[in-house]
Amino acid sequence: MIKFLMNAHKNSQMQEPRPLVIVNFKTYREATGSNSVKLAKACEAAAKKVKGKAKIAVAVQATDVSRVASAVDTKLISVFAQHIDANGQGKSTGFVTAEAVKEAGAVGTLLNHAEHKITDIAKRIEIAKNAGLIVVVCAANLAEAKSAAAMTLPPDYIAVEPPELIGGKVSVSKAKPELIADAVAEIKKANSRIAVLCGAGIGSSEDVRKALELGTEGVLLASSVVLAREPESALAELIKGI
Ligand code: G3P
Repeated sequence: MIKFLMNAHKNSQMQEPRPLVIVNFKTYREATGSNSVKLAKACEAAAKKVKGKAKIAVAVQATDVSRVASAVDTKLISVFAQHIDANGQGKSTGFVTAEAVKEAGAVGTLLNHAEHKITDIAKRIEIAKNAGLIVVVCAANLAEAKSAAAMTLPPDYIAVEPPELIGGKVSVSKAKPELIADAVAEIKKANSRIAVLCGAGIGSSEDVRKALELGTEGVLLASSVVLAREPESALAELIKGI
């Protein structure tokens, strides 16, 4: 299952990877605890409906990784943690370790989300990769995207998300197409193996289509699915843009 996501960047020369759609559950009540399972099952149902058009992942709170990973078919839905701390296993208290989320069933993690900024990105990429996790580093602007792309141990994905558009109704692909196109160009120039995602305000199949046209290999989104009256249909509808 890890392979199915890793192919997106490792074998990009050899095969056309399917776009990746990550639904970030954030700390929304609608996506917490038993609701996280309900929502992940809705994403799973959408995945069945769209028949492999996209890879779908859900980024859940650390406390929900285990219950979500045990409830879904992980061939259809990959489970990511939203964050890991820089602590290794051992004498530390109250931190979320890469090893723990991996053991709970996560195959990847987000890092440096605009709502959870960190300063030691390189160190956490190393920790996450040592634990066998796929790494998605979020970048709030072009400078952050370039700096993540230039890292000696690079992330698997860089997700460009302008903070001011997060949670809004206007998508990054429509409001800031030049940022996405520039980020794709700069990231690929630095390291063509890194896959680029974009996110913020993605709410329609048109937004997704535009994001892919701009050169991304998927999207990172939240509210348009998590807060939808029917998350399954909302996600399936978004994937029509692929
Ligand atoms: O991580 C995804 C996120 O920040 C975008 O949120 O609600 O604008 O899709 P949203």
